[in-house]
Amino acid sequence: MKCSALVLGLLALLLLAMATKPAHCKYYSKTIPNIHRKEKVTHLHFYYFDILSGTKPSAVEIARPSLTRNDTSPTPFGSLTATDDPLREGPETNSTVIGNARGIYLSASQYASQMTLMMYKDFGFTAGKFKGSSFGVFSRNPIWETTPREVAVVGGRGKFRLARGFAKLRTHYLNVSNGDAVVEYRVTLIHY
Ligand SMILES: *[C@@H]1O[C@H](CO)[C@@H](O)[C@H](O)[C@H]1NC(C)=O
Ligand SMILES: *[C@@H]1O[C@H](CO)[C@@H](O)[C@H](O)[C@H]1NC(C)=O
Ligand SMILES: *[C@@H]1O[C@H](CO)[C@@H](O)[C@H](O)[C@H]1NC(C)=O
Repeated sequence: MKCSALVLGLLALLLLAMATKPAHCKYYSKTIPNIHRKEKVTHLHFYYFDILSGTKPSAVEIARPSLTRNDTSPTPFGSLTATDDPLREGPETNSTVIGNARGIYLSASQYASQMTLMMYKDFGFTAGKFKGSSFGVFSRNPIWETTPREVAVVGGRGKFRLARGFAKLRTHYLNVSNGDAVVEYRVTLIHY
């Protein structure tokens, strides 16, 4: 008799506990120190080929303001360009492709003398240790500034999960009339 009362009591407590603690009562977990992960640093060096000319360009204009319809600049203020730019080991056009930069850039300066491209791009790798991984650039790229200029890395995927860092850019080649460019990237990534 005493024992079954105890069992009933425990059952009641259990039911009460289940009733007051539904599985999804909170949208957040307990915040705990991140002690299991150690940060690492990786440096990358490659060349970015942004080719607007020819029959198979890797960068294509997808929009521009009607105000700039007659502008002869390859990237007038407000123009938006989609890219699938190859990343190569070296600056030569036949150098091995090791990845691609996919996304868009927006010509974001009103002044041609301060040409700035706002980059929303994912740099992914197709070869080597970091094949399948990528990092994200969300940054202004002040291409008129003296080199090396800097862009911000704000995240990553795969081996570059939670990456942050920066890239130093140096224009290796630029054709100002058609916008074709080859840019050297030296990237510093802090990731797990
Ligand atoms: C662009 O050029 C055309 C032809 O020369 C002209 O009719 C038009 O007004 C110009 N548009 C602008 C926005 O300047
Ligand atoms: C690229 O081309 C140059 C000359 O055309 C040649 O010397 C070089 O070996 C080539 N490089 C590769 C990676 O194919
Ligand atoms: C630069 O672009 C212009 C315009 O498309 C072209 O005529 C010229 O040949 C290009 N220069 C080089 C070195 O490719």
